[in-house]
Amino acid sequence: MTTKKILITGGAGFIGSHVVRRFVNHYPSYEIYNLDKLTYAGNLENLKDIENKSNYHFVKGDITDAEFIQHLFHEHQFDGVIHLAAESHVDRSISNPLEFVLTNVVGTVNLLNAAKSIWHNQYADKIFYHVSTDEVYGQLGDEGKFLETTAYSPNSPYSASKASSDHFVRAYHHTYGMQVKISNCSNNYGSHHFPEKLIPLMINNIMNNKPLPVYGKGENVRDWLFVEDHARAIDDIYHKGSNGETYNIGGNNEWQNIELVKFLCQLMDRKLGRETGESEKLISYVTDRAGHDFRYAIDASKLMNELGWEPSVTFEQGLEKTVDWYLANQEWLKNVTTGNYQQYYQSMYASR
Ligand code: NAD
Ligand code: DAU
Repeated sequence: MTTKKILITGGAGFIGSHVVRRFVNHYPSYEIYNLDKLTYAGNLENLKDIENKSNYHFVKGDITDAEFIQHLFHEHQFDGVIHLAAESHVDRSISNPLEFVLTNVVGTVNLLNAAKSIWHNQYADKIFYHVSTDEVYGQLGDEGKFLETTAYSPNSPYSASKASSDHFVRAYHHTYGMQVKISNCSNNYGSHHFPEKLIPLMINNIMNNKPLPVYGKGENVRDWLFVEDHARAIDDIYHKGSNGETYNIGGNNEWQNIELVKFLCQLMDRKLGRETGESEKLISYVTDRAGHDFRYAIDASKLMNELGWEPSVTFEQGLEKTVDWYLANQEWLKNVTTGNYQQYYQSMYASR
């Protein structure tokens, strides 16, 4: 058995918690270190089921603290890094871009520097894997899909910061020879998703009979992937992906926001024993997001052809699993929607 020490950053967040769970359960010979600052989006409740496993370790810390990061890498001599820690919400990036530069750009460079300093240019069996987003490619019109070769054209402060961090990772490969892998994924959905993002926000509001704020005319299109399929793709790319390569990840599952919200309303009417059409009455069109990207769509054929990955569930199956999880975990939702969340909601939606 190969023993490896792997650092996963942002493992207490939505996608990170699924990646940590997968690696801890599938690779008992790996020591998994989860580094997370526990911002509003980080929640150790997300990892309750694995927190006592002997190959799991949690470290609370901030990737913007260069000295701390250097110390951590020298202490543990990690063999690999899977980097997910980030500020991830587009609306928050519009209110506070600098926070996104610090965490997403400076934080990433701190991790690259620390990896470089412990790996001493011996990169053959060391991996720096950077988890990124399809938003770096900008927006699409009605036709076409993002390929790995699509030119970067980020439009929001969030996507500009992620694009910048992608460039730094690629530069450390080109300049220093570091073994890196990058993936750019479309919108995820699933359990443990913080209710500031479209699907969990709508689920929470439907449950509580609150208005469902659809931005603009609801015509924007997103390409949705079940989060466990994203975690499995990260596993495949980490182990089998080629050095220096980028892989697009997506489920070939485009939805107009308004159609998705209506579909979710029907599903929840059924689950909550409401009359069909009852939840849809909560839909409320609100002021659009500034600079709102029109459409994202991912061409994941490189990942499918080269590594044999494909989604494991249909959107209908994945969304039903997701709704069932939220209905069974109302305490989790209650815990994350008290306190600061109320202030956030007020500031984001009261004047829309
Ligand atoms: P999230 O906001 O749910 O979680 C982010 C995690 O990072 C949290 O646990 C938070 O505490 C931690 N974090 C934030 N700042 C930190 C810091 N300075 N130091 C240490 N930890 C810090 O995000 P997510 O939706 O799970 O996204 C994870 C990654 O995947 C991000 O890099 C994001 O850009 C990327 N991504 C997300 C999606 C999506 O649909 N959510 C799609 C594609 C790519
Ligand atoms: O494409 C990948 C990206 O997907 C990730 O990199 C980001 O981290 C993730 O947050 C997500 O970004 P989006 O901006 O696409 O996701 P969000 O859930 O915020 O919004 C999805 C769509 O729904 C978008 O068109 C805006 C719209 N929306 C969102 C919210 C929160 C609404 O209409 N109403 C809302 O209240």
